[in-house]
Amino acid sequence: MNKYITTAIPYVNGKPHIGHVMDYLIADCLARYARMGDEVRFSAGLDEHGCKVEQEANKAGVSPLEFVNNLEPDFTGMLEVLNISYTDFIRTTDEKHIVRVQEIWKKLDKAGVIYKAKYEGWYCSGCECFITESEAKSAEYICPNHQKSFEKIEEENYFLKISKFSDQIRDFVKKSVTPEFRGREILELIKDGAQDVSISRSREKLNWGVPVPGDETQVMYVWVDALSNYITVLGYPENDISDWWPAEVQVVGKDILRFHAIIWPAMLLALGLELPKTLFAHGFINQSGGKMSKSLGNVVDPIEIVEKYGADAVRYYFLRHGPIFEDADFSIEKFVTAYNSELANDLGNLVSRLSNMIRKYEIKASWQSSPSRIGKYVDKYHTYIKKFELNHAADAIWEMVKSCNQYIDETKPWELAKTDEVKLAEVLNTLWGDIMIIQALLTPFLPDTAKKIEDIFNGETAKEAEILFPKIEE
Ligand code: MSP
Repeated sequence: MNKYITTAIPYVNGKPHIGHVMDYLIADCLARYARMGDEVRFSAGLDEHGCKVEQEANKAGVSPLEFVNNLEPDFTGMLEVLNISYTDFIRTTDEKHIVRVQEIWKKLDKAGVIYKAKYEGWYCSGCECFITESEAKSAEYICPNHQKSFEKIEEENYFLKISKFSDQIRDFVKKSVTPEFRGREILELIKDGAQDVSISRSREKLNWGVPVPGDETQVMYVWVDALSNYITVLGYPENDISDWWPAEVQVVGKDILRFHAIIWPAMLLALGLELPKTLFAHGFINQSGGKMSKSLGNVVDPIEIVEKYGADAVRYYFLRHGPIFEDADFSIEKFVTAYNSELANDLGNLVSRLSNMIRKYEIKASWQSSPSRIGKYVDKYHTYIKKFELNHAADAIWEMVKSCNQYIDETKPWELAKTDEVKLAEVLNTLWGDIMIIQALLTPFLPDTAKKIEDIFNGETAKEAEILFPKIEE
């Protein structure tokens, strides 16, 4: 089966921060898992238009294009070091994207869902979001996410008739938004119907955007441009995308769920395209309980931490202890504790102990798995991944690792070596089978480590194991 998995495209208004890793890690884990039986396309990209980018470029005294071009290597570099297996990449400043978005606009217009009206209200350039008077009032006119005053806007804009699709949007949210509690938040937002939104900005206020076809005075609202990336990257509208669309899963952070759960389905419905099968919204990585963002200036550099501790350690930490559903706090101390106890001790020791014993006692491979002991965790692992509970799937792998370590402690192969060679070979071959299962299940999470383990044990005898995760001195 073909499966298409997408990630949100980050704003290129500063260097990437650790919060950006979540989309990629989740999508990559799902993509690697799906590749065990399916054909996968996996898209990533960069959101390069809009107020945020224009403002930062102005501050830096360079053109917006020069500004995003300078930052692009930081984002692609982050994907590289994290070992993200994306197959498609799009920048919203790519000429082909711009042309395709303009075609999408024309199609929306033809479908009768775009109209001109006066917008009077508020805008948060941090969120790139229009805010209604009542929302602004209840927040006392200051964005709770960015601690900046909303900007008052009064301009003639184009609007998207989202209200027309309220019922279908509700059905979509109920059926496809995961986790359910985040879907309920969206349903609450649209309980009186989804509201039409402004989908353009006056060029006098914002120049850095895709020009609205046939109206030189307006550029598109950055979200219309950005959301379209999921299909323009497949070649829509000139290509038939039905081999890949609808997406199997679209991974986004909780803060941008509302754009994906309301504006995006309205656009797709108006274009006559199917809606994504799953829209998965993860929580936030917070630092010391607070929000981390470029605008707040308290960021951790993902490339630095990967260079220091390794990609698999970072992948492990965020996929098991990160905000898969609920928000999660991050600190280097927590990271180091998990690394030392779960990677260096639990997994690293199992691999080195087992390889040492197989070699020392000259055991020949005749391994089989032992479903009675670790089989139940294998089933749990698959069930959790299908429910997007990647953290729980990782827990299931560590249950297996623990079970193997315990089995070694109980059977004491070093004593069997003196008394019962047949039993010794049986015990170590059982563990050998287990470690091969563990490495296969680790692949979507820790691809390099899984490969190393496979190389150590995939032969007539075991190879000497390098230390997979050297302990970090605290
Ligand atoms: N450009 C939009 C997305 C457009 S998608 C068509 C955007 N960019 S962003 O740079 O602000 O965020 C990119 C992704 O990173 C989003 O999924 C967002 O939720 C996620 N995160 C940004 N900060 C985060 C944390 N601190 N923690 C976890 N994820 C967060 O929104």
